[in-house]
Amino acid sequence: MDIIQKPEEMQAWSQARSREGGTIALVPTMGFFHEGHLSLMRRAAELCDTVVVSLFVNPTQFGPNEDLDRYPRDFERDMELVRKEPVAAVFAPTPKLMYLSGFQTEVRVKQLSTCLCGKSRPVHFAGVATVVTKLFNIVRPEAAVFGEKDFQQLAIIRRLVADLNIPVRIVGHPIVREADGLAMSSRNANLDPANRAAALSLSTALQLVRDEAARGVRATAELERLVARHIHSFAGTAIDYASFVDGDSLEAVEAVDERTILALAVHVEGKAGKVRLIDNGFILPQ
Ligand code: PAF
Repeated sequence: MDIIQKPEEMQAWSQARSREGGTIALVPTMGFFHEGHLSLMRRAAELCDTVVVSLFVNPTQFGPNEDLDRYPRDFERDMELVRKEPVAAVFAPTPKLMYLSGFQTEVRVKQLSTCLCGKSRPVHFAGVATVVTKLFNIVRPEAAVFGEKDFQQLAIIRRLVADLNIPVRIVGHPIVREADGLAMSSRNANLDPANRAAALSLSTALQLVRDEAARGVRATAELERLVARHIHSFAGTAIDYASFVDGDSLEAVEAVDERTILALAVHVEGKAGKVRLIDNGFILPQ
């Protein structure tokens, strides 16, 4: 497995693969791998001959008061895990190599970036869209795999690829959960085990809503009250949003139908300060 730091070396590596007739699937990550990341890598291997994983904690997608400094990192452990997967190369640049002095370009997917996470993280999605566009230009993949836990990110990337005619197939991969239902996330490393029930309030809220919908409740205002009561019943939780939205447009809906997703972002007390968790899922069976 090759570990490549410089964008121009990664580009040359990918071009050599393409000349040989190989296809590349990219798995963009910020590292601190868990089973969710590894399953994205295995999915990527089903799509193309070669898998490239990018590992870059992208500073431009963190706002000034967010957790860039606390974001968990362990490069050696990540390399140990990734070497057991069908991955041909890891692209792991430094911020200086990605953002050369004088850098001033930004990719912004306007409307989709302003709702849900975009409300409390106003710079986040421009940072994501810009770095993902750069990664596509550097790695030149035929396909790229993203987790559905970040479903707003996935919708934004699908939009940007369509809008900018980027020749890459975007593939979403289902959320991978711990045995107790917690959606896997690198940020879970910052959770306090004593507060597990609070962290689980997102997945248990999803189940509660599915049960209510199965009983025939469709009004999202009523379901929103139920979700808020449930999550706030755990000490130390603060809801950023708990919204019922259309899975494609991300617009809020008043009544649940087959396309409705409950999207959740909740702060819970962690080992050293609050940890922001997200989760989502369709309400009705698909
Ligand atoms: O989902 C992530 O880990 C990041 O937002 C991504 C897509 C790697 C861009 O930095």
